[in-house]
Amino acid sequence: MANNIWAIKSISNLLKEAESTEGHTLKRTLTRLNLITLGIGAIVGAGIFVLTGQAAAEYAGPAVTISFIVAGLACAFAGLCYAEFASMIPISGSAYTYAYATLGEFFAWIIGWDLILEYLFGAATVSVGWSGYVVSFLKDHGIYIADALCNAPFSYDHHTHQIALTGAILNLPAMFIIAVMTVLLVIGIRESANFNNIIVIVKVVVILLFVIFGANYIVSDNYHPYIPENQGGFGHFGWSGVFRAAGVIFFAYIGFDAVSTAAQEAKNPQRDMPWGILGSLVLCTILYILVGLVMTGIVKYDQLNVAAPIAVAVDAAGTGLAWLRTPIKLGAIAGLSSVILVMLMGQPRIFYSMSRDGLLPAVFGKVHPRFKTPYITTILTGTVAMIVGGLFPIGLLGELVSIGTLLAFTLVSGGILILRYKKPDIHRPFKTPLFPVTPILGILTSLGVMATLPGDTWIRLIVWMVIGVAIYFFYSRHHSKVNSQSH
Ligand code: ALA
Repeated sequence: MANNIWAIKSISNLLKEAESTEGHTLKRTLTRLNLITLGIGAIVGAGIFVLTGQAAAEYAGPAVTISFIVAGLACAFAGLCYAEFASMIPISGSAYTYAYATLGEFFAWIIGWDLILEYLFGAATVSVGWSGYVVSFLKDHGIYIADALCNAPFSYDHHTHQIALTGAILNLPAMFIIAVMTVLLVIGIRESANFNNIIVIVKVVVILLFVIFGANYIVSDNYHPYIPENQGGFGHFGWSGVFRAAGVIFFAYIGFDAVSTAAQEAKNPQRDMPWGILGSLVLCTILYILVGLVMTGIVKYDQLNVAAPIAVAVDAAGTGLAWLRTPIKLGAIAGLSSVILVMLMGQPRIFYSMSRDGLLPAVFGKVHPRFKTPYITTILTGTVAMIVGGLFPIGLLGELVSIGTLLAFTLVSGGILILRYKKPDIHRPFKTPLFPVTPILGILTSLGVMATLPGDTWIRLIVWMVIGVAIYFFYSRHHSKVNSQSH
């Protein structure tokens, strides 16, 4: 049967569906504070602990702080749109569900398929950062892991965008952490907001210690020139470098939207989702700017192109900050773990919603009889993430995750714009301010940051989306339940 690819799932149906499944699967336990910590848990990770150094060393210099403001602003516009949706449609499934209610089934599929880049590939990317910190931590304590076993067999040159063989076999620590988190998620650690809270406290405290104590070691000479002169070509320092760096460290902000996947577990989602999304975003932006300021103040930016730039800054401060070395690494390891956890938790939920709608096979929505977790999709997500994390370098993965997420932001902002005109009367407990400026800026800034990413990353995105469209037309379109209901 040829179904209507533009079919829309009505918001009242969505709400009814959420009520009917409630009690069987998801419990409403998360408070406003839990939602904010969930956001911070998903946000603070490889971006700040790993990629900031590369962004400063190669593209922006000390002006990486300006890049943080630029990327934070782009996220704020999209974040406001997410918040409006999350309060209006407080249902798990995130942007996929929002698109189904506004732009129709085809776009919902596109966004759902695109979100795999954010969540599944995001978890894989962060696992590579985790591996870097763990290997360096173990080395500090006299334990050495052979290079061939803790690196990707493929390398990626940021300038030529070439992929080459490194001689390494696999990144085993990256695969290990994904495996551990997958097991935890299958047996149900997702129930435990406390686990996340503790990790969030650890990573935020470690960052604050770095900022507060590191500030004493700032050498103002390191800030000159604040925006290093362009070396020729787009992105190699100068203002274009500031924007190029914003594209790289955009990755550091990814995750605030993961709050929206937990909407069905929030006690009062309509009131608290905007707090979770925007609160975590604002707090992280402040932390990031401070870290960028202190890091490039302690050490000259050209020395920061390393896997653990905060640790390098701590070392550069001399014996005075030596006591911070171990806590920083432990904080980073804990912090990256929570990002992996939240990403691997979000992905199966999106698959779950897609399978409930018939766009993916029913097996994707299977819940474990004892653990009550979507175990099939969790294991599938974990296995693919493990393979990706074991094979590819962080730079290549990070760019792919960023471009995928930015596409989702563009579509979410577009969705808010459309829905305000098409359905002006829906109850919106939270409205994005300055309509229509905010969603329009959400679209423009997301596209702007996307434009700073290399052409190869665009090609990878296009290939990924073409595969998705093919699956939609060969499978999903013919199995859609929404379509069959409306016939
Ligand atoms: N924002 C997350 C991180 O930086 C994805 O690790």
